[in-house]
Amino acid sequence: MNRSRLLSLPLFAALALAAPTSRAAPPDEAQLARGKAAFNTCAACHGADGKGLPTTPPMAPSLIGSKLATAPSEIPITIVLKGIQKLDAKFLGVMAPLGSVMTDDQIADALSYLRNSWGNKADAVTPAEVKAAREKFKDINAPIPRVGYEKKAAKLEADAKAASAPAPK
Ligand code: HEC
Repeated sequence: MNRSRLLSLPLFAALALAAPTSRAAPPDEAQLARGKAAFNTCAACHGADGKGLPTTPPMAPSLIGSKLATAPSEIPITIVLKGIQKLDAKFLGVMAPLGSVMTDDQIADALSYLRNSWGNKADAVTPAEVKAAREKFKDINAPIPRVGYEKKAAKLEADAKAASAPAPK
């Protein structure tokens, strides 16, 4: 009896870890409509069609099929809150930190919209998730290099996979 209780512990721990990145909910119509409006801030560089304004070099990368945009929500939320450190001249624009100019609702709506437009498909983002990320990363005050986001996204995806796999014997 004690033994079976012990065995179930890792499973509970794994479920608790997986919860914030669960891919259950698509956005509802109202959130998509609000998100389209909130995305105007992003469209200044990423274009209303999400493809990135076609300057030379492009103003910003396309968000269509973007792994970072459709990664577990913590990743795109943090990109908007903290920005991406500019390390090369691939793009004319800069992914500046927008955490102080957008509300939790605006960020959640814009991300839910872009994660479910132009063929993208990923779970909706909630204002509570944005609020939690603000708190969790409140001590980060400089833009994060792109590779940092890529590594974290790979780790979150691996963790989610491990959590949904059958418990090891
Ligand atoms: C002033 C221009 C500008 C604005 C405004 C802007 N971005 Fe960006 N964004 C960029 C640039 C430039 C990059 C690429 C940075 C790099 O990799 O060096 C980028 C990268 C990204 C990425 C990573 C995409 C990938 O696959 O590389 C995401 C996600 C993103 N932006 C989302 C947003 C969202 C959401 C908004 C609005 C809330 C927004 N951006 C507003 C310029 C902008």
